[in-house]
Amino acid sequence: MSRSPVVDPNIPFQAVPPAASAYAEQVDLLYFALLGLSAVLVLVLLTMVVGFSIRYRKNAPKARYNPRPSGRGPRLEIGFAVFLFLIFCGFFVWASQLYLQLYGDNRDMLEISVVGKQWMWKVQHGNGAREINSLHVPAGQPVRLQITSQDVIHSFYIPALRLKRDAVPGMYNQVSFTATRTGEYRLFCAEFCGLDHSRMRGRVVVMSEPDYHQWLRDNAQGPAPEAVGKALFQAHQCDACHQNDSGSSAVAPDLRGLFGREVNLQNGQPVRADRDYLRRAIMRPNAQVVAGYDAAMPSYTGQLSEEELLQLIAYIRSLPAQSEKNDGDPKNDGGATSDEAVEEQSDD
Ligand code: CUA
Repeated sequence: MSRSPVVDPNIPFQAVPPAASAYAEQVDLLYFALLGLSAVLVLVLLTMVVGFSIRYRKNAPKARYNPRPSGRGPRLEIGFAVFLFLIFCGFFVWASQLYLQLYGDNRDMLEISVVGKQWMWKVQHGNGAREINSLHVPAGQPVRLQITSQDVIHSFYIPALRLKRDAVPGMYNQVSFTATRTGEYRLFCAEFCGLDHSRMRGRVVVMSEPDYHQWLRDNAQGPAPEAVGKALFQAHQCDACHQNDSGSSAVAPDLRGLFGREVNLQNGQPVRADRDYLRRAIMRPNAQVVAGYDAAMPSYTGQLSEEELLQLIAYIRSLPAQSEKNDGDPKNDGGATSDEAVEEQSDD
């Protein structure tokens, strides 16, 4: 496993960070276009301010009072304001479209979990490979990060990808990107999070796809997250109630095929069983009780670390949907109305 020093001397400082993705280049284009437009406006306004203050200074020969000819409204002023308004609306649309790209689409992406804690970044890959204060990703492949925090709010920031997302305790924030240029880039925490905030940094290594898969193999430590999650599921005796077999007495909902599906709650409201929902269901189980069941589950607050929660969720996600023939029993699917195979696409 590669451990990066706190300050990586191999990555030179640059005033404008390198652009390691097509997205980063687009953000730069937006940034410099906005900067250019602002410079032009400042120049125009400054010229007018200086020019007029000389032309109409005290005791200047020019008349300072020049009434508008009657019948003509302030057309020039309104025109100028509307013109600028439209231009900046255009910038707003441009910027929002770029921003929304960070949320990615519904494609199956390479998923990597990131947990921030004072003061380090812990990263786990799908095959169980882990790293601290570094993130290895393949070039040319869409990646989705699941970011959370174990203590306070941090912010995962990769300048070379023009990407920043808060790591908030108790929820999973996602961010998607496709790095295109191999190399090593800086990684920062961009939210003041305590004494050693400034040391909470590392590096991002963008590798070619074969190199990345080799790296994954070389760094695989222990079982994959879902396998660890399964062991946790048994160790915490979740399987005593969630028996996940068709013959169970249904004390608790069957978790098979649950991930990404809509679940009906006791209060009649539907909720999508995504990561955030599952996390809440484990930590505060009585907040959202599934229709048809009693609020019988104990809370696991304080018993599971953020990484263990991610592993448990990975296990639940890996459970295949139950077969169609058990649908007669409403308790089998926690009251959900149908068993559509939506779990793969709908998690975001
Ligand atoms: Cu973590 Cu600043």
